[in-house]
Amino acid sequence: MSTTSVMPSPIHQPFDLDAWSRVRLAEVEAALDRWVTADVPQGLDHGAPAQLVEAMRYAVLDGGKRLRPLLVLAAQEAVDIQGAGGAAAGQHAALRAACAVELIHAYSLVHDDMPCMDNDVLRRGKPTVHVRFGEASALLAGDALQALAFELLTPQDGSVPETIQARLCASLARAAGSAGMAGGQAIDLASVGLPLTEVQLREMHELKTGALLQASVMMGALCGVSNVQAATALHAYGRAIGLAFQVVDDILDVTADSSTLGKTAGKDADNNKPTYVSLMGLPASRAYAQRLLHQAQAALDGSGLAQTRALSALADMVVNRAS
Ligand code: IPE
Ligand code: IPE
Ligand code: MG
Ligand code: MG
Ligand code: MG
Repeated sequence: MSTTSVMPSPIHQPFDLDAWSRVRLAEVEAALDRWVTADVPQGLDHGAPAQLVEAMRYAVLDGGKRLRPLLVLAAQEAVDIQGAGGAAAGQHAALRAACAVELIHAYSLVHDDMPCMDNDVLRRGKPTVHVRFGEASALLAGDALQALAFELLTPQDGSVPETIQARLCASLARAAGSAGMAGGQAIDLASVGLPLTEVQLREMHELKTGALLQASVMMGALCGVSNVQAATALHAYGRAIGLAFQVVDDILDVTADSSTLGKTAGKDADNNKPTYVSLMGLPASRAYAQRLLHQAQAALDGSGLAQTRALSALADMVVNRAS
C-alpha cells in the first residue's frame, strides 16, 4: 500500500463562508455608501432634500445581514463564464444589482415598520426610521430608495449592456411589485387575525419575502451566462430559500430575543399575524425549513454548475441562522 498522502482536491476543501462574505460585504458596503449619497441640487435654499438623504442613509448603511446582495454575487460567480461582455463587466453589473436589491429591501423594512403596518420601533438595533425622522420622512425615504434602486441598474456610462439593464429592471420590478413583495405585504395586512390555510400562508410568504430573495439569485444569474438547466435549478433554489427565509423569520420571532435580532421579538403574536409557527407549531416549522434547505441543495446539485459552494453555504445560513 502506498504511503503517499493524497492532497484533498479543492472541491472537497471546506468552504469558508465568513472569509468569502467578508470581501464581498466590504465591496457592497463601500458601494452603498458611495451610491446612497447626497445628490442634492446645489442652490436649494432649504435642507429638506439633504435630510431625506440622511434618512435614506440611516435606513441602508451599517446594518443588516446583506443576505440579498450576497445571493446576487454568489449566483453571478456560479455562472461567471465571461458573461455579460466579460467577467469584469459581469461583476460590475452584479455589484449594482446587489446594491439595488438591498435598497428595495431596506425600503420595504422602512415601510414595514411604520405605524400603518407592523408599528415597530426597533430595526437593525436602532430606532426605526419613522421613530428617528418622523412618518412623512420615512415614507419618502422608502419611496426614494425604491427609485434609487432602478437608477443603480441603469448606468448611462455603457458599463452595463442595455439588454442586461432591461432584464435586471424587469426582474426587480416584478419581485418588488403587486405580484411580489408589495402584494405579499398587502396579503399580510389583510390576514391579521385570520386562520390561513397552509397554501395561503405559503403564497403570502413567497410573495412578501421569497420573491425578492429569488430575484436576487436570478439577477445574479442574469449577470453571467446560464443555460436552461442552470437557470431552472437556480430558480428552484431561489424559491426554496426564499420561502425558508420567512419560515425561519417566523421561528426566530418566537425563539430569539430582541437584542439578538436587532428588532422587536414576539411581534407576530402581539400583532396577531398568521405565521408558520402559529399554523404548525415550532417543531414542524423547523422540520419544514430543513426540508426546504434540502430542496435548495438538491436544486444546486442538479444545476450542472461547478461553482455553487457559496450558494450552498448561504442556503445553510438562511435556515440555520440565529438572527
Ligand atoms: C427581515 O429581513 C425582513 C424579512 C423579509 C423577513 P432580514 O432578516 O434579511 O433583515 P436584515 O437585512 O438582516 O436587517
Ligand atoms: C417583512 O416581514 C417582509 C418585508 C419587509 C417585505 P416581517 O414583518 O415578518 O419582517 P420583520 O420580522 O418585521 O423583519
Ligand atoms: Mg410585516
Ligand atoms: Mg415586520
Ligand atoms: Mg418577521
